[in-house]
Amino acid sequence: MLEVSKPGFGDYQCNNAMSVFSRIRGSATNFRNPMAVGQAIANNLPQSNIIESISVAGPGYINITLSSNWIAQRIQDMLVCGIKTWAPILPVKRAVLDFSSPNIAKEMHVGHIRSTIIGDTLAHMFEFTNVEVLRRNHVGDWGTQFGMLIEFLFEQFPDWEDVGNQAVGDLQSFYKASKKRFDDDPDFKERARQAGESFYNPYIPPVLEDLTNKGLIVESKGARVIFVEDHPLIVIKQDGGFNYASTDLAALWYRLNVEKAEWIIYVTDVGQQRHFHMLFTAAKMAGWLPEQNGKKYPKASHVGFGLVLGSDGKRFRTRCSEVVRLVDLLDEAKARSKAQLIKRFTGNGQIADWTDDELDRTSEAIGYGAVKYSDLKNNRLTDYTFSFDQMLSDKGNTAVYLQYAHARICSIIRKASKDVEKLKMTGAITLGHPYERFLGLHLIQFTEVVEQACADLQPHRLCDYLYSLSLTFSKFYTNCQVVGSPEETSRLLLCEATGIIMRQCFHLLGITPVHKL
Ligand code: ARG
Repeated sequence: MLEVSKPGFGDYQCNNAMSVFSRIRGSATNFRNPMAVGQAIANNLPQSNIIESISVAGPGYINITLSSNWIAQRIQDMLVCGIKTWAPILPVKRAVLDFSSPNIAKEMHVGHIRSTIIGDTLAHMFEFTNVEVLRRNHVGDWGTQFGMLIEFLFEQFPDWEDVGNQAVGDLQSFYKASKKRFDDDPDFKERARQAGESFYNPYIPPVLEDLTNKGLIVESKGARVIFVEDHPLIVIKQDGGFNYASTDLAALWYRLNVEKAEWIIYVTDVGQQRHFHMLFTAAKMAGWLPEQNGKKYPKASHVGFGLVLGSDGKRFRTRCSEVVRLVDLLDEAKARSKAQLIKRFTGNGQIADWTDDELDRTSEAIGYGAVKYSDLKNNRLTDYTFSFDQMLSDKGNTAVYLQYAHARICSIIRKASKDVEKLKMTGAITLGHPYERFLGLHLIQFTEVVEQACADLQPHRLCDYLYSLSLTFSKFYTNCQVVGSPEETSRLLLCEATGIIMRQCFHLLGITPVHKL
């Protein structure tokens, strides 16, 4: 296993010598300790222009230092051939990404923000790596409620085609009224059921029949269930109706067999972890998905996430303890960001340089970006506290700080007044100064970070990388004069490469980069 080293131990560290030694220990071998194994591995590495030097440190770590020339060349190649050439290669061609998935009969609220933001980022990440992504908004389990609204709309507004827009203006109260009707009148209830049939409904009976033939579905307390690790997964309710699990079984079957996805990913709150565990295990029992420890694909993964909390540490609500509408949240982030920008530019006398339209677009990019970034930057499984003040701060690990860092790089390049496109073709990068080398090494690590974030479905890895990249850039810029120095061309190219990587990270995170601030 190769890992990025701690400072002072080369660039990468290989720790295999210890485990190799423990496996050969006791057998007839000349190796007396892990250190000797490490030495042997190091001595037998083939010649390569990638590696500058290798050393072995106790108790057997192999420290590898990359060649600075090779790093520089890799960056130059990217500048010429484009960032796409730095995309990692994943072992799948097509993935289904099931995310956002709100209750379509209600307005989106803050609870959906996480699934939407995380899912969208995963979709960008996979697409960047050339995986074909089928985005799926799984509203299937809400079929009946949607049918309820449709039926209620027909009832209340027979001329709904003309008044439709007005009729559903206040969806919340409309929903409440139709729910009451649904609960009170069995006849209405049945009509709503019919009207709300989901896309996967026709697939449920044949899929369940297949599972029955395989002996997986059995009778239990009047329902039909699949026993998963001794727990019943109900697939036909006592009243004969289908449920969330039966719909998801049909959906999974469809995604595997009709859509031919090799990786099926579900983004929901951690509360549904158990449901997905049961679903995937049932699919393995049916032979749809390979068991662990052998074939890895096709594969199904649940991407769980924690809660969005308010400043009181409880589930995020408005002051009147209502759910927060997503659209209000985004509007407010934009408005706050605009007020901040106006204050700043009025203070520093730059306000005249900004048109209204420019200011509006910039505050939108910053405001929306701040909401997304504050959601993505933590390990998704942890709860996080929603705070406009925190996310809109220009200090620390925030999107606003990163936007400023990126805009500064753009301004350095603008001020140099050089034709950067031409420099890319004619200039060369040298990594002589330690801070140039730090930056160069950090830049080329982009590929492995994206690969890792895709492999474990953890977008925060990308945020960590982006933040540390901008800190590394900042150290470089403080220590290495760019414009007017003898190394100007090489350093401008490093600035340009950093700008490209930052923009690519922004794009993957669904954030619009700002070029002027
Ligand atoms: N609409 C569901 C809910 O709000 C989430 C759907 C997740 N996707 C799935 N295939 N079950 O709980």
